Amino acid sequence: MIVSATPGFQDCAVAGSGFNFHRTGWSGRNTGRVYMLQSKLIVVTAGVVLSAATMVSAFAQNVEPIKARQALMEDNGDSAKAGGAMLKGEAPFDAAKVAAIFTEMHDVAMKFGDYFPEDSKTGNDTEAAPAIWEKPDEFEAALVKFQQDTQAAIDAAPQDMESFKQAFGMVTQNCKGCHEDFRIDKDK
Ligand code: HEC
Repeated sequence: MIVSATPGFQDCAVAGSGFNFHRTGWSGRNTGRVYMLQSKLIVVTAGVVLSAATMVSAFAQNVEPIKARQALMEDNGDSAKAGGAMLKGEAPFDAAKVAAIFTEMHDVAMKFGDYFPEDSKTGNDTEAAPAIWEKPDEFEAALVKFQQDTQAAIDAAPQDMESFKQAFGMVTQNCKGCHEDFRIDKDK
């Protein structure tokens, strides 16, 4: 036997020989009935395995929406950084870029709420707090406020640093506010 390579191989070989042993045992006193019993057993076993698999998929955590909402928030983070750089004078004030930043944030605000199904409470290192599902009305309110404030910032269309500062401050208060109540920042 070539079983010395890995312990995994050895396990397989042992399990295999066990199975063969039983088959030889049964066929030795073959009456035809034993074979029927055997195939019924196989069908039953297959059924159990199948329903177990279905159960697992029904209860498994849904990673796709978690990834989607994290990607949206990462975009939000990039937008906030770009705006912050302008505020600090690390990047020149650019009205078109400001408009793009607020538009992107508004886009995130409109989509973000779609990615919180019941089966996405854990998994993929999510930082979503249980409060999202425990207080859905409050979460919705935070989301709507973010939508409104980003829309107001787009409408304000800041053309100078001073008005940008105001609009950006109004919008980014939402980040802190919502994160305090609905995000568990694991990096902290
Ligand atoms: C309405 C609530 C809400 C608002 C408003 C909000 N966030 Fe978030 N944010 C969350 C939640 C919830 C998570 C955790 C998502 C997860 O991990 O499933 C998160 C996660 C993040 C992350 C981590 C993403 C990752 O890599 O997993 C960043 C960065 C972030 N937010 C930035 C921002 C910025 C910047 C703003 C404001 C412009 C903002 N957020 C506004 C709720 C919000």
